[in-house]
Amino acid sequence: MLIVKIGGSVITNKGKYRKIRENIIKRLAYEFYPNDSILIHGAGSFGHYLADIHHLNDGLKEENRLEYSKVSRDLQELNTKIIEYLIRNGKPAITLPLHSFHMVGEEFNYRRFVDYIQRGFIPVIYGDIVLDPKKGMSICSGDQIAFHLAKALRPERVIFVTDVDGIYDKNPKVYDDAILLETVSSKDNIQFDGIFPDVTGSMEGKMRAMRAIARLGIDVLVINGLVRGRLRRAMVGDYVKGTRVLP
Ligand code: ADP
Ligand code: IPE
Repeated sequence: MLIVKIGGSVITNKGKYRKIRENIIKRLAYEFYPNDSILIHGAGSFGHYLADIHHLNDGLKEENRLEYSKVSRDLQELNTKIIEYLIRNGKPAITLPLHSFHMVGEEFNYRRFVDYIQRGFIPVIYGDIVLDPKKGMSICSGDQIAFHLAKALRPERVIFVTDVDGIYDKNPKVYDDAILLETVSSKDNIQFDGIFPDVTGSMEGKMRAMRAIARLGIDVLVINGLVRGRLRRAMVGDYVKGTRVLP
């Protein structure tokens, strides 16, 4: 079994509110194989934009309640597009929205994912708003979900699909001389700085989740979803340009 997290940077334009990249979703839905895998997707500009403006990661307040609803609606819309293309490719995907069954601090209810996989479905989940016992509500990234699922289900490999070729020594979108790293471990000194609003910590947050997964002894790979064929090759276990994350 594989766990694949497709970042919001790939399926949306993170700089524009609710800007979907439909052709890329279409292609990635085609490349997604084999079926006994879990798909997690990010929120991109369907989540981060409003979450950032209204400080949704700081918790529920009287004045931002409606904004959680709007984010939830927007994420559901993005998710529906992804499910639509998976179905068009004959892939039996079913969404299990995190906000409907999880509260921060509770044990992750991974059993339902197993139940669907056993029946031949592809469970899909996304970075989402979530019930929080301290803050009322907060945000859980798809990267954190990947960690929780990996810990419980011990997949063969976790693949993080993003909009650059892998992890560089510094942000390749800011520095022309950034160097792609074939492997990264906790010893490497990496610089992270983002350009778009991202309430879940951007690449730095992703690195924390990926290292935690690597510490479980699970293979972790970062690849570029904007390049045709890389997701399919990574999923079937062929060599693909990218970064392997070591503990
Ligand atoms: P996603 O939406 O795919 O989950 P993020 O937007 O959170 O991913 O992170 C991807 C972005 O991280 C890239 O577009 C890149 O500009 C930025 N980034 C910052 N520092 C680095 C780095 N050292 N290596 C690779 N990418 C980096
Ligand atoms: C963020 O999820 C969820 C919300 C902002 C509601 P992710 O952190 O997984 O999204 P991306 O991949 O960075 O877009």
